[in-house]
Amino acid sequence: MLLCEPMEHRHTILIVDDDAAMRQMLESLFREQGYATVEAESAKAALECVRETEADVVLSDIKMPGRSGIEMVGDLRRVRPETPVVLMTAFGSIDSAVEAMRAGAFDYITKPFEPEAVLLTVERALERRALEEENRQLRRAVDRTSGFGDLIGESPAMREIFALIRKVAHSRSSVLITGESGTGKEVVARTLHYSGPRASKPFIPINCTAIPEGLLESELFGHVRGAFTGAHATKRGLFEKAGGGTLFLDEIGDMGAGLQGKLLRVLQDREIRPVGGTQSVKVDVRIVAATNKDLEREISEGRFREDLYYRLNVIPLHIPPLRDRPDDIPSLVDAFLAKHSEGGPRTLTGDALARLQEYPWKGNARELENAIERALALSDGGEIGVRDLPAEVIGSTSPEPSGEGSSLEAVARCRLPLRELEDRYIEEVLRQTGGNKVQASRILGIDRKTLYRRRLEAPRRQAANS
Ligand SMILES: Nc1ncnc2c1ncn2[C@@H]1O[C@H](COP(=O)(O)OP(=O)(O)OP(=O)(O)O)[C@@H](O)[C@H]1O
Ligand SMILES: [Mg+2]
Repeated sequence: MLLCEPMEHRHTILIVDDDAAMRQMLESLFREQGYATVEAESAKAALECVRETEADVVLSDIKMPGRSGIEMVGDLRRVRPETPVVLMTAFGSIDSAVEAMRAGAFDYITKPFEPEAVLLTVERALERRALEEENRQLRRAVDRTSGFGDLIGESPAMREIFALIRKVAHSRSSVLITGESGTGKEVVARTLHYSGPRASKPFIPINCTAIPEGLLESELFGHVRGAFTGAHATKRGLFEKAGGGTLFLDEIGDMGAGLQGKLLRVLQDREIRPVGGTQSVKVDVRIVAATNKDLEREISEGRFREDLYYRLNVIPLHIPPLRDRPDDIPSLVDAFLAKHSEGGPRTLTGDALARLQEYPWKGNARELENAIERALALSDGGEIGVRDLPAEVIGSTSPEPSGEGSSLEAVARCRLPLRELEDRYIEEVLRQTGGNKVQASRILGIDRKTLYRRRLEAPRRQAANS
């Protein structure tokens, strides 16, 4: 007998028992509480029922003709792993209770039981199911998003950066962001600010190279009236303006020596003194600094103070170059397409995307963004193809002597005849040796005469092929 007739109720309980009287008792108990019930008289019938209806919890006897309740738990977990099963065991059969839990049952109750006990256990099972569902949804949402705020990326390296940002967003310790130009240092700094408790306070970026050293000091610390010619009024500095927030010192590697000392003092004392002023002012500012310079080298060459470096580098955050994380390119491309497309985001052909993933992007995400923006402007409105990409990107699949395994793959994708590949390789080696034919022929393993002959023949071969 199989009675699959779920009703519109809060939750559906599947009752499995070969004893009809027991089923009936449980059915009325649950229906009284507003549950919907579905009944099955065997493990086999229960499985069919589960396939057809949405049971939220399964309540089953263990001892039944055919497959036992314990075996059914195993079957159910394969079809509906998210559905909790509560088993009913005869009093005293502790072995089967243990077995039930081992098989993956949510819980068991021993017969005879108080109605309250069954209701309570089923309620707990429902709560757990709801919690697990919520977790699954959250996890799906996290997996779907390929970024963190405005910061895009799904490569392991970027995921580590997201995790680090999450971890340190609440602290006031200084952060030093390093990475090549265009890797997204400023985006990271903003994300850090906006994901912590300072989010409601200002984020103030200042580029240390853009402002002459003399001015930078009064920009940062402010000045009092008459501090210097032109200081007609007292002016608050960025440290005060950023109060409670974050000051982003971009290109810190270019800060002059005098100012480095003053900044160090501010970081130590957490107070500033405006230019020309006599009184210090307490400041609560988090410092995030960034540079694309190798600060350790700047230190060893005497251009950067080591003590300041340690004060800034409390939390180091390095962003690897884009060429080392090609996994981030598809989602960055999507984001840039959406940002720069007029009238709905446009798309890119698979070939074009493959080319973008092979290109070494010396200017990192910034260069990629420019390439997308330009391709959008130049293409004729349809999908963006390889021909719409910048010439240097299209050309990049010619032999790149970068020593990376993947570049050979890229070369093979060009489908070049071996002779032509050799011609191009010869030209590239010549370019790299600055036209030094002795050096080039040594690298190529051919003598100078052969090199000369090959270069003579190359244009003829190209003409014959085209
Ligand atoms: N992970 C990223 N997600 C989204 N956009 C990014 C990402 N990385 C870089 N960008 C975009 O690339 C451009 C350059 O980023 P940003 O200005 O942060 O680089 P930077 O490291 O500060 O460069 P520089 O050293 O030249 O100042 C910006 O338009 C930024 O929006
Ligand atoms: Mg920058």
